[in-house]
Amino acid sequence: MITERLEISKESYSKTITRCAEILNDDGIVAIPTETVYGLAASAYSDDAIKKIFTAKGRPQDNPLIVHISSLDMLNDIAIEIPKKAKECAKAFWPGPFTMVLKQSDKISKTVSAGLDTVAVRMPSDKVALDIITASKTPLAAPSANISGSPSPTTALHVLNDLEGKIDAVVMGEECTVGVESTVITLATNPPRLLRPGGITVEALRKILPDLIIDKAVLQKPMENEKVASPGMKYKHYAPKTETVLVSGSMDNFSSFVNSKNDCLAICFAEEENLIKTKKLIYGSSSDEKTLAKNLFSVLRQADSFNVKTVYIHSPSKEGVGLAVYNRLIRAAAFKEIIL
Ligand code: TXA
Ligand code: MG
Repeated sequence: MITERLEISKESYSKTITRCAEILNDDGIVAIPTETVYGLAASAYSDDAIKKIFTAKGRPQDNPLIVHISSLDMLNDIAIEIPKKAKECAKAFWPGPFTMVLKQSDKISKTVSAGLDTVAVRMPSDKVALDIITASKTPLAAPSANISGSPSPTTALHVLNDLEGKIDAVVMGEECTVGVESTVITLATNPPRLLRPGGITVEALRKILPDLIIDKAVLQKPMENEKVASPGMKYKHYAPKTETVLVSGSMDNFSSFVNSKNDCLAICFAEEENLIKTKKLIYGSSSDEKTLAKNLFSVLRQADSFNVKTVYIHSPSKEGVGLAVYNRLIRAAAFKEIIL
């Protein structure tokens, strides 16, 4: 299959949006930019199209997808028994990097939810994404547009590196601004539960949901065969091919640690640039969690090109968006963590 590259210059914008709608309404799959990461979109009403997503990504069949909407009207076709708290969250956090798990309506493809009776819904804030959903007149199921297990894509080139030849088209949009996937909470259980940290922080969520609990799989490795609330959390994820280890400790301790190792790459903070003598990649300042999030997947994607034995990543603080960065890194490291 030849993957169409759809440009979004001023001149080509409306042509690209129309072409996306055409492909999506014809049961095709298209990678689209969102503010979090690029998504691989298909009509949420089409079983055939959804199956193509699972095949192209090599995604485990039991891992459900997020459905993307561009207006609140669309929500009523997707979810039922929508609680008052969900409406308050929608008002506060949509459009934006925020996903709610609700009871599923039977209008959408069962394949979307991988057999669960719930559905995850999000209204992205990215203009291109919203215009594509509106033009195709259908909610779009879209997981991150990467091969399952590899770091999520934050540029159109990342998508092409993983999926060229396997999908109908890629919208050649801008680099994503948030850089990590949306925050996922479930309101299908009581009390509400954080399933995946992301761009909307726990601190912001608790203003509306004071009883929000953090699922233990956010920070810990689920046990073998444990039933997890969000199937995506049990998989090794975001990982470079090179052995990757997360390291916590002060900047002095981290730099001495990596300086004493042979054949390694350090993924570190800007403040450590002069302290670290080995190969390094900087992902931002230690106090700027938003930048760390924005650069995270790009540095993980570059790691393998250094051809080293081990990648050591300096662990961020778990405050604010830092919790999302930590959650992705601990999975990239397959839960291997050294505390100095
Ligand atoms: O920012 C994002 O959310 C991006 C962009 C493209 O919107 N999408 C994304 O999708 O990250 P994906 O498929 O890579 O992650 C979806 C996560 C998985 O961990 C999945 O298990 C969880 O959401 N999920 C989806 N439906 C669920 C449900 N009904 N119950 C619990 N977890 C669910
Ligand atoms: Mg993903």
